Amino acid sequence: MVSFMEVAGARPVALITTRADVDVLGKKTSKDNVFTCSWNMPLSFNPALYAIAVGKQRFSYRLIKSSQLFVVNFIPATLKKEAVYCGTQSGEFIDKFKEAKLKTEEAENIECLRLKDAVAFLECEVVNEIEAGDHVLFVGRVVNSKINADKKRLYHITGDKFEVI
Ligand SMILES: Cc1cc2nc3c(=O)[nH]c(=O)nc-3n(C[C@H](O)[C@H](O)[C@H](O)COP(=O)(O)O)c2cc1C
Repeated sequence: MVSFMEVAGARPVALITTRADVDVLGKKTSKDNVFTCSWNMPLSFNPALYAIAVGKQRFSYRLIKSSQLFVVNFIPATLKKEAVYCGTQSGEFIDKFKEAKLKTEEAENIECLRLKDAVAFLECEVVNEIEAGDHVLFVGRVVNSKINADKKRLYHITGDKFEVI
């Protein structure tokens, strides 16, 4: 049987930025993180809803669960190396923005970073969480959206199979 991921085909690669207070040595500290997510999809026009599927073991899962905020940064094909890095390292003990040399700016409508080099982004506030096996579907209400650049985007099929569209 062919893998269901191969059957589903290419989906847009997003770098999800998050921010939440985490406990460091008993002290609450604000932490920004970024992780790669290709299981993302629109859900509703009105209200505008966008969903991301996040593995329960991800550091980002804990951050989004806590702050109920995330930005979906769609990326150009030129950021493939950075996407693979952010999708294979956990940000719990490292600063992935620094390591991957990602340029950031403050989001406009939520307390979170977004990526300057994103082709487009959606700023979201979580309105629902749906259990889905080993992932949780975070349903975000889109509170700001913008297209930054007209560049070819990166899409992911499975494993190391990518497409540029
Ligand atoms: C191309 C690609 C797509 C990915 N898509 C998802 C996804 O949709 N959901 C998810 O939970 N993890 C996905 N991952 C894995 C996470 O990005 C990875 O586990 C990451 O290290 C989590 O980082 P964190 O622990 O800092 O949150 C993907 C990885 C890659 C390379």
